[in-house]
Amino acid sequence: MNPLHIEALESAGFAAFLLYLNDHLSDNGRDGTAYFQPLSRDDSRFPADKAEAFKTGMATEVGMTGWRRVWVARDGEGRIAGHIDLRAHAERYTGHRCLLGMGVDREHRKQGLGNRLIPHAAQWAQESAGLEWIDLQVLSVNAPAIKLYERNGFHKTGEIAAMFNIDGQDFAYTSMSKYLANAWPNR
Ligand SMILES: CC(C)(COP(=O)(O)OP(=O)(O)OC[C@H]1O[C@@H](n2cnc3c(N)ncnc32)[C@H](O)[C@@H]1OP(=O)(O)O)[C@@H](O)C(=O)NCCC(=O)NCCS
Repeated sequence: MNPLHIEALESAGFAAFLLYLNDHLSDNGRDGTAYFQPLSRDDSRFPADKAEAFKTGMATEVGMTGWRRVWVARDGEGRIAGHIDLRAHAERYTGHRCLLGMGVDREHRKQGLGNRLIPHAAQWAQESAGLEWIDLQVLSVNAPAIKLYERNGFHKTGEIAAMFNIDGQDFAYTSMSKYLANAWPNR
């Protein structure tokens, strides 16, 4: 049994969430953790302008430009152990799809939390938001994340070789998608 509790992040908890996120990002490409964000090791923190858009998105109605929803897993003392977020695509006419981002705190990895967070968000996407697809992009070097996504019904849709050059190294970028409804839409 995993004692962690998953709940929607409210805007009142946003400042604490940012502290968690910046700590999480500090693992990027360090101490045996694969690069998981297209950011240099020395620049692995959440930019202030993005933080503002992130918070605004949490209060934006689903279907409107820039919407975003976030869920966090908390331990018994309320500390954040992991998160997952779904957000709008930037392109128009993509209201039936969303983009996924997630992470699990270093102390809580490989204990099944990622495997709990994805179904939690996917259920909301399908049942509450009526979305049909979840898309994501992941650095191809991030084997733990790709394994987690495949395990949870994501399929690879493409890969761009050497999409990023970070800290003197080329990184390929993999796109994956998960279809949510039970049958292919009649389009
Ligand atoms: C990727 C990440 C979210 C996985 O979360 P997690 O809670 O550790 O994953 P789980 O314990 O639920 O494991 C899920 C599956 O992935 C596999 N997995 C997890 N970590 C792994 C690792 N380091 N190496 C190989 N496989 C791994 C597990 O074996 C499991 O597979 P199974 O269900 O077939 O047994 C976590 O490692 C992380 O936060 N990494 C840094 C941030 C990141 O990569 N975010 C995604 C960016 S796109």
